[in-house]
Amino acid sequence: MRYDDYPDTREKFRKNNVRKISSKRRISDLTEHKEKNTSLDKFADPALQELFERGFIQDVIWQLQQGKEATVYVATSEQGLVAVKVYADIRARSFKNDSLYREGRYIGDARIEKAIQDRTNAGINAQLVLWVEQEFMELHSLHHNGIAVPKPIARNANVIIMEFIGTEDGAAPRLSDLHLSKEDARSAFEQAKHILMGFAKLGRVHGDFSTFNLLWHEGKVYAIDFPQMIRFRENPQAEILLRRDIRGLLKTFHKLGIVAEEEALYREVLRQVPR
Ligand SMILES: Nc1ncnc2c1ncn2[C@@H]1O[C@H](COP(=O)(O)OP(=O)(O)O)[C@@H](O)[C@H]1O
Ligand SMILES: [Mg+2]
Repeated sequence: MRYDDYPDTREKFRKNNVRKISSKRRISDLTEHKEKNTSLDKFADPALQELFERGFIQDVIWQLQQGKEATVYVATSEQGLVAVKVYADIRARSFKNDSLYREGRYIGDARIEKAIQDRTNAGINAQLVLWVEQEFMELHSLHHNGIAVPKPIARNANVIIMEFIGTEDGAAPRLSDLHLSKEDARSAFEQAKHILMGFAKLGRVHGDFSTFNLLWHEGKVYAIDFPQMIRFRENPQAEILLRRDIRGLLKTFHKLGIVAEEEALYREVLRQVPR
């Protein structure tokens, strides 16, 4: 079953998510030069320009949803379409409080730790880079361990390039945007549980696990959005965050007609965590 088989959803998705090049203003922020440049300078955004020069992308063609932290674009590359996640400069917005997720995370440089604590410019910069780096590393490890996530391709500064989940017609919809048949909803839930168990077996908690971060593509569920992922071994809040993830997952799946018991699932997932 493909998302194309849900005409309503596809229509809705087209309207809401995929703005072809008509969303000029946003894409042009990345591409349009304020000053005259050499013809080799394709992107105004330096991180994208470098990824272009290194052959990872050719053109940015669509803008997908803009989230709190990042905007995801679709770009062409020699290997086909890729997803490009561009994190906003965190100084331009009120940065989400990530101390809960950061707890126990090893940075290894006391000066950087202090700068982050004091929220100096250098600290905020370091924090953004760590945040993006964290997502890229997690993607690698999850993909390597056979969990259904987009394959990571490259990272540079505030940009991550990864496998695009979707087709030429558009990105895969999020489960939160769909009205699935009972059978598909059940299948999606089983897959989401399997992914959750997979995280737990690797000693990880997603930290923002719900149908908003699960894509549905050709009958398969993919998890996305990992900058806040936490490790049981490092973070004393892991169990609390796991509980919150499960609650979020059940609440959002409830809208798809799935009813499941929180406590039983929590215990089952917790049992997977290596001790
Ligand atoms: N690899 C991908 N393939 C297709 N669509 C994606 C991909 N990664 C993200 N998206 C889309 O972009 C949206 C935002 O991405 P996400 O990683 O969840 O960032 P955030 O929620 O922090 O803004 C997602 O909800 C999804 O619709
Ligand atoms: Mg998200």
